[in-house]
Amino acid sequence: MLITIMRISAEMAKAINDQISYEASSANAYIAIGSWCERIGYDGSAAFFFEQAAEENRHMLKLIHYLNGVGAESIIPAVEKPPSSFESLESTFQFGLTSEQKVTKAIYDLVDMAEKEKDRFTYSFLQWFITEQTEEETLFHTILQKFDLLGRDKLAVYQIDQTLTSVRSQVMSKQTSQK
Ligand code: FEO
Repeated sequence: MLITIMRISAEMAKAINDQISYEASSANAYIAIGSWCERIGYDGSAAFFFEQAAEENRHMLKLIHYLNGVGAESIIPAVEKPPSSFESLESTFQFGLTSEQKVTKAIYDLVDMAEKEKDRFTYSFLQWFITEQTEEETLFHTILQKFDLLGRDKLAVYQIDQTLTSVRSQVMSKQTSQK
């Protein structure tokens, strides 16, 4: 019989499982926002949020693979029902930014814990998430800035919605060129 030895602490495994749960909640919330956008006719934003949900799923899987790889048990969480309607298009991006800021804080807490435990595996693994969170917060800030620049009347919101197909690649290529 193969005996698996866990190479991180039980506390760290629990904290990473909590992170899996945050990523799953984010994925669900972004699907709910995408669905609301699709119903209203904000096609660019719908595509943006569905892609964002897919990103969160990839983050969740990355954490699951990590836990399984270090001999810990990953737990697939039940998730809360997200909101199904939103005040405005701008409020959906505000929701996204707040949610990303919470995830960033949770990642920082994990990094602090890894440092404290001298858990080099986890510390190194988490560096990818720090870079990813910087990109995600920048992405939401960039979109929210457009409401200040272009305005909030129907035509401005329509124009903002239409730019969303390209905004992700613009932000990502800017971030990559800064590395
Ligand atoms: Fe996976 Fe957007 O945090």
